[in-house]
Amino acid sequence: MTHRTFRSVSALALGLMVAAGGARATDLEPMAATARDASAQLLELLKSTVTKATKEKGPVFAIETCNEKALPLTAELSGKLGIDVGRTSHKLRQPKNAPDAWETKVLEDFQARVAAGEKVEGMESYEVVEDADGKSFRYMQAIPLGGVCYNCHGDKIKPDLKAKLDELYPEDQARGFLPGDLRGAFTVKMKM
Ligand code: HEC
Repeated sequence: MTHRTFRSVSALALGLMVAAGGARATDLEPMAATARDASAQLLELLKSTVTKATKEKGPVFAIETCNEKALPLTAELSGKLGIDVGRTSHKLRQPKNAPDAWETKVLEDFQARVAAGEKVEGMESYEVVEDADGKSFRYMQAIPLGGVCYNCHGDKIKPDLKAKLDELYPEDQARGFLPGDLRGAFTVKMKM
């Protein structure tokens, strides 16, 4: 756990745990582990889907496949695991991945941490949050832009891919990233 994560978790934990009966930040670690695992499963599922589509029919087809399947596959995995897992970003492609208030705050925190020199890889944040749905454990893990991602999210997208993205995502902001940049985050919500 990074120093920074501990601080943000403990600050909230101190505030909320009075109501929760004195649980400490370390008590959240098992839920964080579950959230990490769900994030890894979603990464694997989407990565294998894109890789397979690219191998079969090339990158334009892979974009279409992402467009059609990323959200349904994400919903399916959430159903299977019994917790909400998904993706969001400060620079969106799919409008349905828009961050809510808590996610927006964490994305801003991630950007500040990156600006302060922290590595994107392994960056995370979690806390217990109370909103209109009641109390939940919420977790986010930063997603770094990798080499293969650059083709569809980078600063030199090939014309045929760019045309397909323009067609499917007229308000696409998820371009112009460089390898290692903060692309977005996995986000997990577990009812408590
Ligand atoms: C073949 C093109 C392609 C590749 C390669 C690709 N993406 Fe994407 N990405 C997309 C498309 C299309 C969407 C929108 C999916 C949807 O409509 O649900 C997307 C959505 C996302 C989102 C969700 C947030 C948002 O803006 O909607 C994240 C995060 C993301 N991509 C990260 C990555 C990362 C990290 C990699 C590399 C491991 C990667 N992408 C590789 C095309 C691609």
